[in-house]
Amino acid sequence: MSDFGLYVHWPFCAAKCPYCDFNSHVRNAIDEKGWCEAILREMAHVAVLQGSDRPCLDTVFFGGGTPSLMSGKSAGRILEAASRLWSFAPDIEITLEANPASADASRFADYRAAGVNRISLGVQALNDADLRFLGRLHDVAEARAALALAMKTFERVSLDLIYARPGQTVDAWKTELAEALAFGTEHLSLYQLTIEPQTPFALQHREGVFHIPEEDRAADLFEATQEITAAAGRPAYEVSNHARPGAEARHNLIYWRYGEYAGLGPGAHGRLRIAGRSVATVCERLPERWREKVIADGHGFVEMNEVSPADGAREHLLMSLRLAEGLDLAAYLARWGTAPDAARIADLVAGALLSPESGRLRATRRGMLVLNSVIAALAE
Ligand SMILES: C[S@@+](CC[C@H](N)C(=O)[O-])C[C@H]1O[C@@H](n2cnc3c(N)ncnc32)[C@H](O)[C@@H]1O
Ligand code: SF4
Repeated sequence: MSDFGLYVHWPFCAAKCPYCDFNSHVRNAIDEKGWCEAILREMAHVAVLQGSDRPCLDTVFFGGGTPSLMSGKSAGRILEAASRLWSFAPDIEITLEANPASADASRFADYRAAGVNRISLGVQALNDADLRFLGRLHDVAEARAALALAMKTFERVSLDLIYARPGQTVDAWKTELAEALAFGTEHLSLYQLTIEPQTPFALQHREGVFHIPEEDRAADLFEATQEITAAAGRPAYEVSNHARPGAEARHNLIYWRYGEYAGLGPGAHGRLRIAGRSVATVCERLPERWREKVIADGHGFVEMNEVSPADGAREHLLMSLRLAEGLDLAAYLARWGTAPDAARIADLVAGALLSPESGRLRATRRGMLVLNSVIAALAE
């Protein structure tokens, strides 16, 4: 069986970035202790749902929002409570997403003492003009300082960059990416800027304030990303994620391999095995409402639906195509008792979007570029 992970959503940010549609909120002041207590209550509820035959915990991921606004003490309380409910795998991966703003970086030693062993740092860009455009609160110097401190404090460090920014040439991106790789982090998440509906960027983009790269240039930027990271020993193992082989984010692999995870906190999603059935959970999105619900009901779930085998099989197929390793067809058949549609696959292989090998279903480089349409074609 695959790993079991715990996702903890910390929904607060110091400022809202204009491109971001994550469930993140700016509040003047928060009662951090009270928010932690709500997470602990919801965690205990999940453990009760799982019953006495609980899996061993392989990964924990503090995501956000900006979990690095949380104190080390809070992270420690959450981890300690988790260790009372689940036995921790000896090599458990515990990741915390951090923002490079210096106030947050000063907490790194506390996170480490609390048990965090992997940091994912939101660097986003390595030039100040673009950081300002992205509405970030840090500059390049702060990002570099935070990265240096992270690498001194943690064995495992990842950094996030957003590329395909307005006006970004392939040459400029190559230089910036080479600089990012020179830090030597074992893992990088490299996202193409997407214009999300209902964000300030969506409005500005519609009004022509800026233009993002056309499809052809975006494809060139993607190609350059694949080549440069592979040459630097950090090949893509997922559409936007690159790692030294063996240093992949185990937590995220759980999602893409369609494994089991609990999702705690506002807006978090989970997929649990309860009494032999697969159950999808969704928490109330608005932080204050989520907390009120936890206080009233012991959990913030607004949806808890059994996943039918047909839905599970389809979701598993779609998630795994994001991975360079693709889908193991024999394991898939054993798990779901069904194989992906052969005629649709043949069409996509003929169009060079899926690779023709037997035993595994894998998107080609070209298929990865248009993955959403490959997925749509398979899901029809
Ligand atoms: C929850 S944030 C990471 C932690 C922290 N909040 C931060 O921003 O530094 C997750 C990542 O998603 C990426 N992201 C968010 N919105 C995006 C968008 N519209 N286009 C591309 N990447 C995006 C950013 O790289 C960001 O670091
Ligand atoms: S990108 Fe990160 S810091 Fe910015 S609003 Fe989104 S979650 Fe918050």
